[in-house]
Amino acid sequence: METNRKVTLTYNEGKDTTEFPVLKGTLGRDVVDIRTFAKTGMFTFDPGFPATASCESSITFIDGDKGYLYYRGYPIEQLAEQTDYPEVCYLLLNGELPNAEQRAEFNRGIMRHNMLHDQLMSLFKGFRRDAHPMAVMVGVVGALSAFYHDSLDITNPEHRRISAHRLIAKLPTIAAQAYRYNKGLPFSYPKNGLGYAENFLHMMFSTPCDEYKVSPVIARAMDRIFTLHADHEQNASTSTVRLAGSSGANPFACIAAGIACLWGPSHGGANEAVLKMLDEIGSVENVPAFMEGVKNKTHKLMGFGHRVYKNMDPRAKIMKQTCDEVLNELGLHNDPQFKLAMALEKIALEDPYFIERKLYPNVDFYSGIVLSAIGIPVSMFTPIFALGSYRRLD
Ligand code: ACO
Repeated sequence: METNRKVTLTYNEGKDTTEFPVLKGTLGRDVVDIRTFAKTGMFTFDPGFPATASCESSITFIDGDKGYLYYRGYPIEQLAEQTDYPEVCYLLLNGELPNAEQRAEFNRGIMRHNMLHDQLMSLFKGFRRDAHPMAVMVGVVGALSAFYHDSLDITNPEHRRISAHRLIAKLPTIAAQAYRYNKGLPFSYPKNGLGYAENFLHMMFSTPCDEYKVSPVIARAMDRIFTLHADHEQNASTSTVRLAGSSGANPFACIAAGIACLWGPSHGGANEAVLKMLDEIGSVENVPAFMEGVKNKTHKLMGFGHRVYKNMDPRAKIMKQTCDEVLNELGLHNDPQFKLAMALEKIALEDPYFIERKLYPNVDFYSGIVLSAIGIPVSMFTPIFALGSYRRLD
């Protein structure tokens, strides 16, 4: 919203001035509208965009200093406690939570799309069995662009809706199939009687020989991981999707570009990096030497620090609680790797190096531990982040 305030820039040794309007958002800091800045004959320089908004959005709000994350005005803590992931998708898409009827209709709509075209299945076979599942995700999601010529007009709301539904529905199927292909397991079809997270776990772990039952605690943990990763303002992968889509490119190809961006260890690859780091440290006795290396900047403490959250990551708090619930449910509190993770967390939280730099555990520190406890292989961590990261297509 425009205000009547302006920011004046004086340059050229005081000879020239230009005024820029100040805009006010519903929440958060004021924004200086610099769209006319180029007229000064200069550029702005803001690597990583810490002070730059690339678009107007009413979807997600983050206050990194206070540790707030809101989807459509709802605090993430409330959503994680009282809703499930499909409801959160509905909220992100439509701006409000669904009532019971809208929820049932939305779930039916998603279920209608959760199968994969049979021709798409043959694509998996083109990959090496040992390909990283993120490589398979990038390839197969990109290939969806060749299958849905009926709905590729990004300016058409109905096309955007159906494409979003297809992505929400098919990404778990694609991710689970990427895992099963890697393992040499037969494909497991979606089961419509199950909840979203339960169905994903069913597609990952069921075999034709056994009845597969998912514990409600584990299904809830999976659902929370999806919810906590569903949106995060203009982060690197969302910005990638927007940039790719700004040319009017095929939406599925744009999402594939976002998945590629998410793959990196500074972003969605961090929870995978946490588990690799725990493996490298090996045991609690090696923690002090590892921490010395962190302070000498030989390596980073993965799962710590965040570009935006400088006091705490609100998602980490929820995930820590979920982590406790899962470790209790599975009787894993004394597992050496989880004990090591907890020792590392305690030491880092008390160490001046981390306190001074405001480095706290982020969501990926705990989500890596939760996923590992559930039995999800490390290489599947980032695909799970990718399938939770719902991307609004406008
Ligand atoms: N371990 C050790 N030191 C760190 C870490 C870390 N994880 N993160 C930052 N630092 C240090 C930096 O070396 C720097 O030290 P200096 O002031 O002595 O030079 C200081 O803290 C500030 O670091 P920046 O690079 O300015 O922090 P920035 O906000 O740019 O980085 C980032 C954020 C990329 C997330 C970083 O903290 C990091 O690499 N963390 C590990 C990877 C990770 O967990 N990523 C997941 C992010 S959550 C997500 O994507 C869902």
